[in-house]
Amino acid sequence: CGVVGYVGDQSVTNILVEGLAKLEYRGYDSAGVAILNQEGIHVRKFKGRLSILADYLEKEPISGNIGIGHTRWATHGEPSDRNAHPHTNVVGNIALIHNGIIENYMKIKEWLIEEKGIQFKSETDSEVVAHLIDHFYEGDLLKAVYRAIARMEGAYAIGVICKDEPDKIVAVRKDSPLIVGLGEGENFLASDIPALLKHTKKMYLIENDEVVLLTKDEVKIFNELGQQVDREVFHVTWDAEAAEKEGYQHFMIKEIHEQPKGVHETLMRRLDKDHNIVLDGIKLTKEDLEKINKVYIVACGTAYHAGLVGRYAIEKFAKIPVEVDVASEFRYRDPFVDENTLFIAVSQSGETLDTLAALREAKRKGARILSVVNVVGSSVARESHDVFYTWAGPEIAVASTKAYTTQLMAMYLIALNMASTKGTMSKEDYSKVVAELKTLPEKIEKILGDIDKIQHQADAQFSNESVFFMGRGLDVNVAHEGSLKLKEISYINSFAIAAGELKHGTIALIEDGTLVIALATQDHLYEKMLSNIQEVKARGAYVLAVAKEGNKEAEKTADVVMYIPDTTDELTPILSVIPLQLFAYFIAVARGCDVDKPKNLAKSVTVE
Ligand code: G6P
Repeated sequence: CGVVGYVGDQSVTNILVEGLAKLEYRGYDSAGVAILNQEGIHVRKFKGRLSILADYLEKEPISGNIGIGHTRWATHGEPSDRNAHPHTNVVGNIALIHNGIIENYMKIKEWLIEEKGIQFKSETDSEVVAHLIDHFYEGDLLKAVYRAIARMEGAYAIGVICKDEPDKIVAVRKDSPLIVGLGEGENFLASDIPALLKHTKKMYLIENDEVVLLTKDEVKIFNELGQQVDREVFHVTWDAEAAEKEGYQHFMIKEIHEQPKGVHETLMRRLDKDHNIVLDGIKLTKEDLEKINKVYIVACGTAYHAGLVGRYAIEKFAKIPVEVDVASEFRYRDPFVDENTLFIAVSQSGETLDTLAALREAKRKGARILSVVNVVGSSVARESHDVFYTWAGPEIAVASTKAYTTQLMAMYLIALNMASTKGTMSKEDYSKVVAELKTLPEKIEKILGDIDKIQHQADAQFSNESVFFMGRGLDVNVAHEGSLKLKEISYINSFAIAAGELKHGTIALIEDGTLVIALATQDHLYEKMLSNIQEVKARGAYVLAVAKEGNKEAEKTADVVMYIPDTTDELTPILSVIPLQLFAYFIAVARGCDVDKPKNLAKSVTVE
C-alpha cells in the first residue's frame, strides 16, 4: 500500500523506514525493505507493525545507500512474512516492490512454473513480476522492465533494484500513484507525497505508463514508447497533514471520491472476458445452492445496511428467502440455522466482535459461511468457508463510505453468481444487469461532479437538530444508511422510516420547517413516494428529494431535488447513497465537527 525508494549518499535504512512510517496512516499489515550494497541485495520483511521491521534493522543494521521499502495491505495472499514485499527473483539479484494488482498474474505464473520451473515463495501477484523481469534481463534493467510490463495487465506502481546495476532504481506507474522526490545528489521514490516531505518539496508526478530511471544525480522519465519526456517540477505547498489526505480536507471526502475506483475494481476483477462473473473465493456449487433453503445476512452498522440491499438482490435474482439481522441480535436469539442455511457475514474490518460471534454461532449450527470483507486475512475471512473481498482499499474515516458501496457491488455479484449457478435467471437478464453494473463507476463520478449543489443545500440546512429520511422499497435501505451517516458525523438526531409508515406515527413530528430527505428513485413506487412527499409538505416540511434524472415531477413536489443518473431500480442504491454521504459530510463540516473521528465512535468495534 505504500512504496518508498532512495538512491544517494546517505544511509538508506532510516530514510526508508521513516518514509514508510509517514504512510502508516493508510493502513497496512506487513512491511519490508530491500537494501543494496557491495555484497548484494538484502531483504528484510515482516508481518505486523512497521516497528517490528525497524527494531530488527536497529539490532542487525544493513549498510547501503540504495534501497526500496514497502508497506503491504493484503490483496492476493494473506498477511505473512512470505507475502510481504520486497519480492525477489530466484537467485535474489533483483528485488521489487509493487502497489496495485496484476490482473493476468495467474497466466504468467503458470507459464513461469511450466516453462521455467520456478518455485514461488509467496502467493502474491507481485512476485510474478520479479521473475518476469528476471526472465527478460540481459544486462539492462530498464529494458527488462519494459519487456515485462508489455506482458502485464492491471494497475501498478513498481520499484525495482538489481545487484548488477547497483546505482539505479527503475520504477513504473500504471493506475497506481507514484512520485519522485528530487534532492541534491540524491533522489527519492514514493507512492505518496507525505513519505518524502521531510527531504524535499520538489517532486515529479509520474504519469500513467511512464517508466522512471533514478540514480543519485539524475532522474529520467520515459513514455510508453521508451522516449524520454520532460516533466515540470511540482513544488509541494501542502503541509504534512494535508498531504496525507492528498489535498482533501478530510479522509471521508477523499474516500467518497475513491468510490468510482473501488466499485470499478470490485466489479472488473470478477468479470471474465465474456463478462461472466467469476468469484474465486466462493466455491458454492449448484448442488450446494440447491440444498440451501434460507440465507441469513448478518452484520453491524453500515455493513448491515449493505446486507439489506443484499437481501433484495438475492431474493430477486437467486430466488432464495433471505433474513437480515444485526449481529448483536442474531447471536442471542437462537436463530433457526441448520446445514441448509447459508450465513453471509458482511464486515469492512472483518474484526467486529459481534459479527464474528454471530458467524461462530451459525457455524456451530452447521451453516455454510460466506463473508464479504474488505481486510484480507481478517478473522471473519479466516473463519469463513467462502470469502468475497471488496476492493475498497484501506478506509480510514470512521464513517464508512467506499466500503459500503463496494459491499453493495459485492452483494449484487454474489446474488447474480448464485442466480447463474442455480439457473434462476435468463442469460439475457443476467447480461443486462452486468452491463448496467459496469456503468455505475462513471455514474458515481458524475454525481461527484455536481458536488456544489449538495454543499449549498448542506450549508443552508446545517442548523437543523433533527432530520427524517424516508423511502420505499430499496430506497428505505439507503435512507437508513443516509441517516446513519448524518447522525454519526454531525450529531444531528436523525432517523429513517419506510415512507408507508409515516401515517403510523412519524407524521406527528412533522412541523413547519422540519427537514425531510425523501428518496424517490424507484420507478414502480414513484407515484406513491410523491404522495408521501406531499403529506409531509402539507404539514410544513422542507423536502430534499433524491430522484433519477429526468423524473422532473419530483421538482413540483419537493423543495429541492438532488438527481442521480438513470439506472435500473435494483441498482440505484450504489448511486443514491452518494448525495447522502456528501450531504452528511458538508453538514458535519459546517457544524465544525471532527468528521474523520466522530466522538464516541470507533472504526472497528472489537468488544461487545
Ligand atoms: C463501527 C464503525 C461503522 C461500521 C461498523 C461495522 O461501528 O464505526 O462504520 O459500519 O463498525 O464494522 P465492520 O468493520 O464490521 O464493517
